[in-house]
Amino acid sequence: MSFNTFGHMFRVTTFGESHGPAIGCVVDGCPPRIPLTEADIQPYLDKRRPGQSRFTTQRQEPDAVKILSGVFVDEASGRQVTTGTPIALVIENVGQRSKDYSDIQDKYRPGHADYTYDIKYGLRDYRGGGRQSARETAMRVGAGAIARKIVPGLGVRGALIQMGPHRVERARWDWAEVERNPFFCPDARLAAMLEDYLDGVRKRGSSTGAVIEIVADGVPPGLGAPIYGKLDGDLAAALMSINAVKGVEIGAGFGAAELSGEENADEMRMGNDGKPVFLSNNAGGILGGISTGQPIVARFAVKPTSSILIPRRTVDRHGKDTEISTKGRHDPCVGIRAVPIGEAMVACVIADHYLRQRGQVGEPPAWPS
Ligand SMILES: Cc1cc2nc3c(=O)[nH]c(=O)nc-3n(C[C@H](O)[C@H](O)[C@H](O)COP(=O)(O)O)c2cc1C
Repeated sequence: MSFNTFGHMFRVTTFGESHGPAIGCVVDGCPPRIPLTEADIQPYLDKRRPGQSRFTTQRQEPDAVKILSGVFVDEASGRQVTTGTPIALVIENVGQRSKDYSDIQDKYRPGHADYTYDIKYGLRDYRGGGRQSARETAMRVGAGAIARKIVPGLGVRGALIQMGPHRVERARWDWAEVERNPFFCPDARLAAMLEDYLDGVRKRGSSTGAVIEIVADGVPPGLGAPIYGKLDGDLAAALMSINAVKGVEIGAGFGAAELSGEENADEMRMGNDGKPVFLSNNAGGILGGISTGQPIVARFAVKPTSSILIPRRTVDRHGKDTEISTKGRHDPCVGIRAVPIGEAMVACVIADHYLRQRGQVGEPPAWPS
């Protein structure tokens, strides 16, 4: 399993699996002298933590992060800061229940990666899915918390904008609402409705999909490495690498196909501060693979959880037709906990491109030159 690292200058390697003793990551390339303690990372992990409401998996994991390396107390300021050496983070797994999986250890869950892991590696860790489990994504969230500290003025926020057929109404969008309901939903009326909807889905032994929107503010213009390291290309790859993601859009995304050229073009005017402003943001903050300075807007769709109680037809490892009903603790909609994971992946990609831009271009020329 040889591709467990992403990023170029800000490089993240994760390790560990669902039912092993611990999961962890190494973040290499973080600049020195950035204040960093566990308290900077933990709040993001708490957002992703399982077992926080009846709408997510009931697996109980405190997800308490430990920094093992890459920090030192700076004598001048008395603060713990990064040293410029690899930062290792670790989280112990404490809520494993491997016996939940013994019923399905020889069966392939339709829609899950059991079959493909087996066909590729010739064995699979059936306990919680091993490395295919989204348990690993906790470490991406840890790395994302570090990434957020690298780009001055960067803010990355995410929200669940659709669950099953139910979508937010944009006119009711309130970022403060995202913190107030268990769905990270910016539309209070939709959030109230989703309680009944998801209870129904769960009680039926079924599951549902979702769409998540991530908005990054304060991204400097000029980030992105045409041609094969375009910012939108790297964001799409990072978001698509999240478990259960089946679609990614930037800006108007698939909707752009329905727009005319004049509707889609983000018109420009000179602002009072002598810098150009865009009158719309169909580009999602990226043109030619390079950030414009507008907010970066990305959306991703996650499929419904494949581990469901409703019986499905499948085959087993011995080549027999059979049926499967997956018991145990599963998220009825993985899109909820995918919100902080999407935020983290976007923060990591932007931090990586910020450092790459500094390395190649340094300070960009003042505009116009
Ligand atoms: C936050 C999160 C939690 C997840 N929890 C579950 C789960 O409880 N049960 C399950 O079957 N899949 C879960 N998944 C999805 C699987 O990890 C994923 O579908 C599987 O690894 C196959 O990969 P793929 O869907 O990307 O092809 C979760 C995904 C995310 C992002």
